[in-house]
Amino acid sequence: METLDITQPDDWHLHVRDGDFLKTVVPHTAEQFARAVIMPNLKVPLTHTQDALAYKERILKSVPKHLSFEPLMTLYLTDHLKPSEIRLAKEQGIVALKLYPAGATTNSDLGVTDIKHIYPVLEAMQRHGLLLLVHGEVTDPSIDVFDREAVFIDRQLEPLRRDFPGLKIVFEHITTEQACEYVKSVDTGLGATLTAHHLLLNRNAIFKGGLRPHYYCLPVLKRETHRVALLNAATSGDARFFLGTDSAPHLATLKEHASACAGCYTASIAMSLYASAFEAAGRLSQLERFASLNGPAFYGLKKNTQRLRLKKTPFEVQAEYPYAQGALKPLFAGEMLEWSAQLVT
Ligand code: NCD
Ligand code: ZN
Repeated sequence: METLDITQPDDWHLHVRDGDFLKTVVPHTAEQFARAVIMPNLKVPLTHTQDALAYKERILKSVPKHLSFEPLMTLYLTDHLKPSEIRLAKEQGIVALKLYPAGATTNSDLGVTDIKHIYPVLEAMQRHGLLLLVHGEVTDPSIDVFDREAVFIDRQLEPLRRDFPGLKIVFEHITTEQACEYVKSVDTGLGATLTAHHLLLNRNAIFKGGLRPHYYCLPVLKRETHRVALLNAATSGDARFFLGTDSAPHLATLKEHASACAGCYTASIAMSLYASAFEAAGRLSQLERFASLNGPAFYGLKKNTQRLRLKKTPFEVQAEYPYAQGALKPLFAGEMLEWSAQLVT
């Protein structure tokens, strides 16, 4: 297949940061995606509806005039968030709240220290129909970093689902076979996002010819058996799995650092990467479901009307992008990719 037209996709998990950084990354996403779920882990986390709405306006200012793009806003759960905020959030169009276990990842220090602390808020979310997005890793230092997602399922996610059977949950950026199996075992109310890099790479990438910080993200890349399980889940057509890039930009100087920041920047090449992964699995025909249909269905939103064209036109990934006063290096910088993505106008 040389050309593939699909319903314009959405990105159900995206970091765009703030201030001048928006100018680089927002256009990259808006060139391919109609909507994106915007993560609230700014330096000062977004814990209030009014702040999220002001942030949405700043994002919209960075959307190129010829494109239309809708940021879907989320709030950051803390131990102290009040249940009264949930009704306001729902009224103002916030789609979800994000659960970061405290210390699990970038800007998660103010995250939740014990899920029991947020039970009244979860109860309000269940009542008002707001989704819960979870960074599914335990933070217990005695648990091996490669096992933190699998342990999260037993220790946190299963009890949570039992206590809130009516709460819609997205298990974000899943990276393990255990997570795939768990999501498949639940009939309704649980979905999962999958990144392009976890479909294409295993943990060997982090160590190939030296320590490679651009391949470091959280949850960390896992061994090959997990990658294969993720690819099977994504390409199966199963409605519980959908696209979430987890594109997470950091200044190149902070990635190429003694304690490199976690996060891979993939927004600018996202649909090329997913197309390559689906093609390698012999399942390009399932890309539209995964990228454009399953997500809106889970969130209860309409699918997009515009179309995106993927063409087999190989191109070289740009080495870096200007990023405020510094540089932003995408994953696969300088390498060739097979598929180009363009909106059908
Ligand atoms: C994300 C970031 O940089 O904000 N990093 C990452 O490695 N994915 C945070 C997150 O989603 O865990
Ligand atoms: Zn993320």
